[in-house]
Amino acid sequence: MSQSLATAAYLGAAILFILSLGGLSNPETSRRGNLLGMVGMALAVLATLFGPRVGAGGIAWIIAALAVGAGIGLYAARIVKMTQMPELVALMHSLVGLAACLVGFASYVDPSVQFQGAEETIHLVEIYVGILIGAVTFSGSLIAFGKLSGKIGGKPLLLPARHWLNLIALLMVIWFGGRFLHGHDDGAGMTALIVMTAIALLFGVHMVMAIGGADMPVVISMLNSYSGWAAAATGFMLNNDLLIVTGALVGSSGAILSYIMCSAMNRNFISVIAGGFGSGGGAKKGDAAAQPQGEVTPIGAAETAELLREAKSVIIVPGYGMAVAQAQHTVFEITKALREKGVDVRFAIHPVAGRMPGHMNVLLAEAKVPYDIVMEMDEINADFPDTDVVMVIGANDIVNPSAAEDPASPIAGMPVLEVWKARTSIVMKRSMASGYAGVDNPLFYKDNNRMLFGDAKKMLDEVLGALRG
Ligand code: TAP
Repeated sequence: MSQSLATAAYLGAAILFILSLGGLSNPETSRRGNLLGMVGMALAVLATLFGPRVGAGGIAWIIAALAVGAGIGLYAARIVKMTQMPELVALMHSLVGLAACLVGFASYVDPSVQFQGAEETIHLVEIYVGILIGAVTFSGSLIAFGKLSGKIGGKPLLLPARHWLNLIALLMVIWFGGRFLHGHDDGAGMTALIVMTAIALLFGVHMVMAIGGADMPVVISMLNSYSGWAAAATGFMLNNDLLIVTGALVGSSGAILSYIMCSAMNRNFISVIAGGFGSGGGAKKGDAAAQPQGEVTPIGAAETAELLREAKSVIIVPGYGMAVAQAQHTVFEITKALREKGVDVRFAIHPVAGRMPGHMNVLLAEAKVPYDIVMEMDEINADFPDTDVVMVIGANDIVNPSAAEDPASPIAGMPVLEVWKARTSIVMKRSMASGYAGVDNPLFYKDNNRMLFGDAKKMLDEVLGALRG
């Protein structure tokens, strides 16, 4: 394939990626968006494989690597549960970071890359910055993976003088950058590069360890953005325009998503990075610190069905527990049954419900819930006082009144769905355990709240049975 044909293919792929992002902005067009992205990626891989920069001898190696990568990818996609998607995404981000580091070191030692004067300096800066971003992304994403999968606790690690430690790390990176640029010929460059990589790896670990459970949504989108910049840096090192464009698209869309997540949680980006918001992560049953005090009013499935049947308006608030229980299909069956009886049923989606952006929307779309009854928090929050019954399915932090009412709460200021303003709320969960942020929830003890204890899928099946019966 000639250079100009490869460039045209790259341009086509870049346009497809932009159209793909456009498609993904709306649930109705998201399937098409995914398809466009896949076609774009296939085009990009083919253009690279048969392009002028890969010799005949290289193709076999690349195909072998593609087969191994695709095999692992297919296997992971088949076995991963929907609730493990955020961890998988974090792990993938770490691979982008690792790739940027490896490409950086390879470009540095590659004897065929010969630049002189200013071009050489630019190339070295690309390598240094590329490895820096790659290493932070790599170690930060691994820690995020550990936190999301529960292998590392969600409690923020707040070292004394941690801001000073970060500042010292930054100054050292700058100083070693100078050593790297000037020590290129005498071997000191490699030492500087290795020391900087170690500092960047430690910084990535420290940065994500310091972030509290409640801020994890922002961290995920931030690392998504970093992985984009790491890919763009790789593009600069390899002189590959498509990688630069694609990396910049991922980097900037991730940055926009981080901004949206920050506003959804009423936080500013700097205080997220500074860490400490949300005391712990996913406190377990029997965790004394996570047990709020008071009396709750339990309710059974039959009574729940009765309340729903008699209601004129119902709002369903899905959360992480609905994803764990895979209860979305039963939820839709209940919705259909109620709508057939003339009940007005709508869904209220909190921007950080579940464990990844758009988590609930994906589940509801999978269950074929019509998009026009799925409302964002801002669209529906004012309607709770006029609602007869709110059914909270496996959600906790996103309906916690202390965020709005208790300035001393660790999640104070985070906008939440104000379900306690409805005539009756029913919270469906297995126990009194707290949610991801590890914060007590006073909603459970309100007079107008009922607790339907049990696995969400099992309890909803019973409610559906009672509704039909
Ligand atoms: P959580 O606050 O985590 O609450 C989920 C509740 O579901 C738990 O209290 C749990 O209580 C219940 N549950 C678990 N399995 C269940 C099952 N099989 N059946 C019924 N209930 C079950 O979830 P949320 O309200 O969706 O809030 C999301 C939280 O995750 C926020 O703190 C958010 O910051 C954080 N987070 C979000 C993201 C993104 S991007 N969305 C990413 C990382 C973290 P029991 O154990 O008592 O059943």
